[in-house]
Amino acid sequence: MRFYFTTPIYYVNDAPHIGHAYTTIVADVLARYHRLFNDETYFLTGTDEHGQKVETAAKKRNLAPQDHCDDMVKNFEKIWAELNISNDIFMRTTFPYHKQAVQACLQKLWDAKEIYAEDYEGWYSVSEEIFYTEKDLVNGKTPQGNEVVKIKEKNYFFKMSKYQEWLIDYIQKNPDFIQPESKKNEVLGFLRKPLHDLCISRPKSRLSWGIELPFDKDYVTYVWFDALLNYPTAVGLEQNEKAADFKKWWGEGSGAGNAVHLLGKDILMTHAVYWPTMLKALGVAQPRTIFAHGWWLTDSGEKMSKSKGAVVRPLDVKDMVGVDPLRYFLTRDIIFGSDAAFSVDLVLSRVNSDLANNLGNLFSRSVSILEKNCGGTVPEYSVDKVPGSKALQASVEKLPALVKSKINSFEPQAAVEEIMGVLTETNKYFSDSAPWNLFKTDAEKGKEVLYMTLESLRLCAVLLQPVMPTKMRELLTALGSGHALTWEKDVAGGFGRLKPGTKIEKPAPLFPRVEAPKTE
Ligand code: MSP
Repeated sequence: MRFYFTTPIYYVNDAPHIGHAYTTIVADVLARYHRLFNDETYFLTGTDEHGQKVETAAKKRNLAPQDHCDDMVKNFEKIWAELNISNDIFMRTTFPYHKQAVQACLQKLWDAKEIYAEDYEGWYSVSEEIFYTEKDLVNGKTPQGNEVVKIKEKNYFFKMSKYQEWLIDYIQKNPDFIQPESKKNEVLGFLRKPLHDLCISRPKSRLSWGIELPFDKDYVTYVWFDALLNYPTAVGLEQNEKAADFKKWWGEGSGAGNAVHLLGKDILMTHAVYWPTMLKALGVAQPRTIFAHGWWLTDSGEKMSKSKGAVVRPLDVKDMVGVDPLRYFLTRDIIFGSDAAFSVDLVLSRVNSDLANNLGNLFSRSVSILEKNCGGTVPEYSVDKVPGSKALQASVEKLPALVKSKINSFEPQAAVEEIMGVLTETNKYFSDSAPWNLFKTDAEKGKEVLYMTLESLRLCAVLLQPVMPTKMRELLTALGSGHALTWEKDVAGGFGRLKPGTKIEKPAPLFPRVEAPKTE
């Protein structure tokens, strides 16, 4: 199967925070798993660069909007490199080919009479860039308490309402389309009320930083209409020379293509309502899945954001525990689709118990005993001399299929839990068998315990590589398996791939314990 994973394209104005890092890391983890499964995989992240806020911020800095964006985008590029994100493309809505393709789409919809012009009167909030009707207002202000002004102007509307019945039907007939189930139900609930048409223009007199409407040069495109289209324009929509790529990565027909959009629940409606109707009107395939995940919350249960970030400074946690442990925590401590709490204490306790104790210690203890009793050389494989060996092998052999099925059903947390379960079992087997004693009485048994333990560690490390690419590569290199991994040879080949005779040096601790920073 082919997969085209996308994160939201983040507002270029923002400083990257833990929420952005979360979606991007989970997308990276899923993309890396699918590459390991030999699925053809393409992975996009990027930035959303048009709109009022960008124009205003640029003005404040005395910069042209494009220069402001070129400067701000570096923050995102830098942090994704630091977090080891393996995106195939970094998409920006100011790329000329994107702008041209958005205009081609608008022209098509205009020619097909899917877009119409109408005078519109409403209450407009400049700071929120949103129109409100009379009944939306609270004491004459927006629900967020911002000032509004009455505006009457001509605007352009996309006939979204006419797709309401089609959309309800499509969602119901395609169970994988909107996930998880609870979010699908929210969307269907929302669609019980009549859908309105979508205003897709902004007059240049108010906002000029946007993509000009091809049929009216006094207007630019509403930023969401422009931004959502990034997903297919990035792989070639409306670009003749990229037609083959587009077919390959986006897909054909009117049903599901290859795209898997990952996003936070805050932007579910734009993705699950605006987006499918836009694609339908354009005659382009639908995404295969739109998956809305939950939020990381602060101790007091609020959504973490830039301002809250100042309290916990989530990305500083990376400097404290390292990149791979942060990736591990964000994958392991939240059920994909639900909310969860984020705090330094939670990160430390997870990292110390799972990585320092369960994984790192097991490796260093087994290598110490190997050094002492076998000159650091991996012994021959055997499984029938020590009680518990066969059961451990059976658990390890079941693991790859389990991990695959959890990843296929968007449960990265459960996949990691399965792997950690096998490591716990391996720890217990190791302690119960006490190889340090066996070497005094029956060295062959001691060797079996070491082989079984190291081989279990090897397979677990291969399966954890998408989550912790650098640390697991270190571990695998120490085990003599530092080559590019393949599912057939390194995983599905079954138990017993660790090569007898491999010399293992005692490595530096993989995951040193991390203490909480001292507070005054
Ligand atoms: N530019 C739009 C998206 C356009 S996509 C065509 C946008 N950008 S954003 O910068 O505000 O990013 C929002 C995304 O950041 C959320 O959908 C989610 O992926 C992520 N998160 C922001 N805060 C979050 C948490 N506290 N927890 C988890 N993820 C959250 O919206």
